[in-house]
Amino acid sequence: MTAKFHTLKPTFTSTDSFFTLYQGDCNEILPQFENTFDLIFADPPYFLSNDGLSIQSGKIVSVNKGDWDKEESINDIDEFNLQWISNAKKALKNTGSILISGTYHNIFSLGRILQKLDFKILNLITWQKTNPPPNFSCRYLTHSTEQIIWARKSQKHKHIFNYEILKKLNGNKQMRDVWSFPAIAPWEKVNGKHPTQKPLALLVRLLLMASDEDSLICDPFSGSSTTGIAANLLGRKFIGIERESEFIKISMDRKKELEKNAAIFKNKMNDLRLLENMDYYTKNNFF
Ligand SMILES: C[S@@+](CC[C@H](N)C(=O)[O-])C[C@H]1O[C@@H](n2cnc3c(N)ncnc32)[C@H](O)[C@@H]1O
Repeated sequence: MTAKFHTLKPTFTSTDSFFTLYQGDCNEILPQFENTFDLIFADPPYFLSNDGLSIQSGKIVSVNKGDWDKEESINDIDEFNLQWISNAKKALKNTGSILISGTYHNIFSLGRILQKLDFKILNLITWQKTNPPPNFSCRYLTHSTEQIIWARKSQKHKHIFNYEILKKLNGNKQMRDVWSFPAIAPWEKVNGKHPTQKPLALLVRLLLMASDEDSLICDPFSGSSTTGIAANLLGRKFIGIERESEFIKISMDRKKELEKNAAIFKNKMNDLRLLENMDYYTKNNFF
């Protein structure tokens, strides 16, 4: 970590100091961290809030997520992605890797920029949703997937890949790059709703794959901090950056809930056969 790290004042640090949040623009905060993170997970704006309609639980709803997600021109999306990914690259250690989730709205821009910035692309993971909403227009296929690009900072430095753990999770067969998970469950929203909250199980598997117990993990668009909850469940430290106060508040409440009721989170992950044997994944039992 560089000296710069200490000049920033966190908005929130948990009592166990495993969960830190900075409120602000990630393009201002990331440059304060040079060669710091082992893993960055980013779920940047998809720019799909274009006043369109969708169906949720049988009801017609607007696709708009918030002002942070308003539709932009392709050039603006490219410029935005270039800026934050350049900052993220500098904030990664040389051995670090990045996971970026997206849909067809932004995934091409993200992939091209990673290649231009000389990242080494490792995988394109497809999250297949087991319960996608139906297509409203009936003019094309139901969208039922999101993609996650996994890339490492350096062409030559080795990245973390927990091959054996992933194999074990897949019934002792090599883990493939298509993962089936249901969309977010109601119990994950008890501390408030984020419009694009990711399922915790997806983040747990991603972090098990690409980080170790002593890894420092950052999410520059942390929203409700699903990444931070997954990181802490696995005994890893987390730094989140988020612009909006309402999402900082949800993040803090989720961390407090985890501190109070860790067993509930752990049992839910066990139901999904993700953390059946925590000792296997963590050297010192976190719970
Ligand atoms: C797609 S959501 C992330 C949701 C998150 N993965 C979760 O599970 O809750 C993107 C988030 O990035 C935030 N955001 C957008 N632009 C930002 C920026 N420049 N710096 C920091 N946060 C930003 C938005 O407020 C939003 O909460």
